[in-house]
Amino acid sequence: MKKQINTNITPISAPAVVISVGEGEKANLITLAWVGRVVSNPPVMSISIRPSRHSYSLIEELSEFVINIPFSEQMREMDYCGTRTGKKTNKWEDLNLTKHDSTKVKVPMVKEFPINIECKVINRIEHGTHVIYFGEVLAVNVDEELLKKNRLDPEMQDQIAYVNGKYYSLNKNPLNTHGFSNKE
Ligand SMILES: Cc1cc2nc3c(=O)[nH]c(=O)nc-3n(C[C@H](O)[C@H](O)[C@H](O)COP(=O)(O)O)c2cc1C
Repeated sequence: MKKQINTNITPISAPAVVISVGEGEKANLITLAWVGRVVSNPPVMSISIRPSRHSYSLIEELSEFVINIPFSEQMREMDYCGTRTGKKTNKWEDLNLTKHDSTKVKVPMVKEFPINIECKVINRIEHGTHVIYFGEVLAVNVDEELLKKNRLDPEMQDQIAYVNGKYYSLNKNPLNTHGFSNKE
């Protein structure tokens, strides 16, 4: 028997990532879970931000963002950026995080986070509580020691998944490889 639950609860794993927005002194950090890859070619990511967030005016101003992907050792930084507002505090300073120049956008990336995806906003949709931004991926920066043959080494992979208010580690061996069911 299936039971239906509140449609506001969509029990699907989401990434817990920290987005940088704004440039120079104004640059801010915001944790987001409503994030995903939405187009293969050209690569496009979507992120959703409530207009009440301090980060909203910054992304509106520059139309650029960087997706900084924490591993589980940066879980506290990730949670902090999602529970404090840049209106009241400087999250970079609070957390001792370093602004590192991005290569294709003015928004800085977080040096201490292992993966940084530079994006340029190509479209935006206002829908309900959030504004959805579509960002074309201009550059993907990865700490070298995490790579094997220029791809993320699965054994080094330690991203955080967010499901119904809880953080989960993905630090496990992959279950299988894309397309494995075709080879049975
Ligand atoms: C795990 C997690 C996921 C979040 N996802 C989103 C999201 O997808 N969109 C959003 O607008 N806020 C999201 N938030 C809330 C913001 O990160 C939070 O309100 C933050 O303090 C806003 O910062 P700012 O005011 O400096 O922009 C999330 C928070 C956490 C902890």
